[in-house]
Amino acid sequence: MRPASTVVAAGRPAVTADGDLNPSISLSSTSHAPNAAGSGYGRYGNQTWSALEDAIGALEGGRTLAFASGMAAISAAFSILPRGAVITASKHGYSGTMSLLKKLVADERIQVRYVDVANTQEVLDALPGTVLLWLESPTNPALEVADLPTIIAAAKALNCGVGVDNTFATALNQQPIAMGADISMNSVTKFLSGHSDVLMGSLSTNDEALFTRLEDQRKLGGAIPGPFECWLALRGLRTLAIRLKASQENALEIATRLSKHAKVAKVRYPGLPTDAHHQTAKKFMKGFGAVISFEIHGTPADADKVCSSSTLIAQATSLGGVESLWERRHRWSAESPTIPENLIRLSVGIEDVEDIWADIDSALGYY
Ligand SMILES: Cc1ncc(COP(=O)(O)O)c(C=O)c1O
Repeated sequence: MRPASTVVAAGRPAVTADGDLNPSISLSSTSHAPNAAGSGYGRYGNQTWSALEDAIGALEGGRTLAFASGMAAISAAFSILPRGAVITASKHGYSGTMSLLKKLVADERIQVRYVDVANTQEVLDALPGTVLLWLESPTNPALEVADLPTIIAAAKALNCGVGVDNTFATALNQQPIAMGADISMNSVTKFLSGHSDVLMGSLSTNDEALFTRLEDQRKLGGAIPGPFECWLALRGLRTLAIRLKASQENALEIATRLSKHAKVAKVRYPGLPTDAHHQTAKKFMKGFGAVISFEIHGTPADADKVCSSSTLIAQATSLGGVESLWERRHRWSAESPTIPENLIRLSVGIEDVEDIWADIDSALGYY
């Protein structure tokens, strides 16, 4: 099946006469013994989680575990690292991930070699002696793209574990596990659920031993998703292919227009043929996502003014929903100092592109 069919068809109950088409929301913290499915208790497993995990797993090409949030999934992946482990990680990335790495280093749990993921040689040079390469690509919010096939192959040749945060691309645009990665991670909060009404994360892997370690970590860490949230996420996933297609088409058009706008100094979007990462991205990505970052000719206060002057686009953090959202990233103190102060991150939704553009153009006129 092709991915646009998988998102619709995967994770449904077995066909039985008069049986339900959709999984139901299984609201039970426990089940009668003996438990044939082997879960037995609500922190160990749940039928509604399983339906969502089956669907994400079919897309990612690996068995999947759902977590209470994207950060819970990342924390679980890092928590199984041995004390003192040396890892290589993107120097730019989601501020929560970067803060977690900083904390793990400060607590002397791990050591991190930070690299520019777009500089393949720099990544390869950092790999010897590291047990895990954690890559975000495209990165949030700098939108750098790593040459995933080359880097993953090199890391695996050195026996280094590889985890990829696939949130910005989704499995519809790139499949880390098929490229050899051990883990593909998603903030399901974003494109997969797609309606800004769920917080959830996932880890997918085709390594059974790793799956068991991560599952044990979820059981003991307890960062489990709620059944209702899983049901909502699966409902959202059904339309992922058409939502992503619509928002990517809008994003390319908006990025093109932004790059010609007199008040815009720089646009970052890997789908733009002029973008520094376009050539790398086009080698293996099927689409370029729907997040654009741009810098204005103006101060951070001007950028704040722009973001608070829109009427259709909400000034809000997060991304990957049907609604367009934007914000100046440095309104968050945790954002990396190497991200420009006046950078605006725009998550392009599925509204009519002319309405999105009219809103941007008029908001840019407010300073
Ligand atoms: C790339 C990326 N990874 C991970 C996360 C964390 O996900 P969550 O907010 O679901 O915990 C985010 C959140 O913005 C993100 O953008």
